[in-house]
Amino acid sequence: MSLLFTPYELAGRTVRNRLWVAPMCQYSAKDGMPNDWHHVHLAQFASGGAGVVIAEATAVVPEGRISPEDVGLWNDEQRDAWAPIVAAIRDRGAIPGVQLAHAGRKASTWSPFAGNRGSVPETEGGWTTVAPSAVAYEGFATPDALDDAGIERIVAAFAAAAVRAVAAGFEVLEVHAAHGYLLHQFLSPLSNLREDRYGGSLENRARLLLEIVEAVRAAAPDAALLVRFSASDWAEGGWDAEQTATVAAWAAQRGADFFDISSGGLVSHQRITTGPGYQVPLAAEVRRDGGVAVAAVGEITSGTQAEEILQSGAADVILAAREWLRDPHFALRAQVELGDSDEGLWPPQYERARPRTH
Ligand SMILES: Cc1cc2nc3c(=O)[nH]c(=O)nc-3n(C[C@H](O)[C@H](O)[C@H](O)COP(=O)(O)O)c2cc1C
Repeated sequence: MSLLFTPYELAGRTVRNRLWVAPMCQYSAKDGMPNDWHHVHLAQFASGGAGVVIAEATAVVPEGRISPEDVGLWNDEQRDAWAPIVAAIRDRGAIPGVQLAHAGRKASTWSPFAGNRGSVPETEGGWTTVAPSAVAYEGFATPDALDDAGIERIVAAFAAAAVRAVAAGFEVLEVHAAHGYLLHQFLSPLSNLREDRYGGSLENRARLLLEIVEAVRAAAPDAALLVRFSASDWAEGGWDAEQTATVAAWAAQRGADFFDISSGGLVSHQRITTGPGYQVPLAAEVRRDGGVAVAAVGEITSGTQAEEILQSGAADVILAAREWLRDPHFALRAQVELGDSDEGLWPPQYERARPRTH
């Protein structure tokens, strides 16, 4: 039996394996409402054997959407629209998760298939963005710096969205603190120029994230609580793995269960060299120095590669995104590739297609 298909204990629940689906924006919602596209898209990964399926960046307030077509959980109508989608994931044996998000200065941008780039003007459905400081992401509109009342509203919105997520049936809540979005903007000295208690020292830059972790934990005491970090800005003077490990340990003390280690997205002058497993060393460093459980993500595309990463001790779980789009039955394929026995992962409806390994 591989490690990849050994069940994983996550905050009091047993996940059937360690090959999970990373959040992926679909830019396909109207008014933040998930629809039939999201239903089919997410449920297919559960049929395909995923352990946890994490739904895309889901805005906690309308102005936190990356694009006007993002999904949300800022009202009860959205909660009710998520419920059958969440049930479809669970009915197919996976644990349903959602990424709670605020895009900050990278909100109000055109979706990748809108045929435009950069910020959406207000005349075309965009809005004024907010951030720790009035510093634009290169090429985007300049955000307003948040004041104390604005920060308090965002903490409350994360908590309210967490309550709705649990009511919709989600069991895993991932706080999005990566990819240059709002919480990452607070963490990184390249985007946070504040001189109040939310800027300057590491403690101050981490304050908003930690307040949100505490608020979400209090709002959803039984949920598994994940935080996604970008463990490097890939830019001089930016956020790095050492700071990530320290803040992950602080977040764990405040109730976070697990950490999803990605990288980049804060500044356009980042210098990343990608390749198979390129973010695995970051996950390993945060796991070792933070003393926390982590997922590795990024160009992990086969069962053998995923198993090697787990066997090396670099990570506890594998998250993948694009490989699931190429093959929504990635886990079924990986299980056959590793020569494991079925253990009920293949849906009986698909049994006639299962290659025999024994
Ligand atoms: C279509 C698409 C949408 C994505 N949307 C999100 C998102 O909503 N939130 C997020 O944290 N990452 C998002 N990502 C990043 C993925 O979660 C993942 O970290 C990245 O693609 C690297 O993993 P991969 O090489 O397995 O694709 C997205 C990636 C893709 C391809």
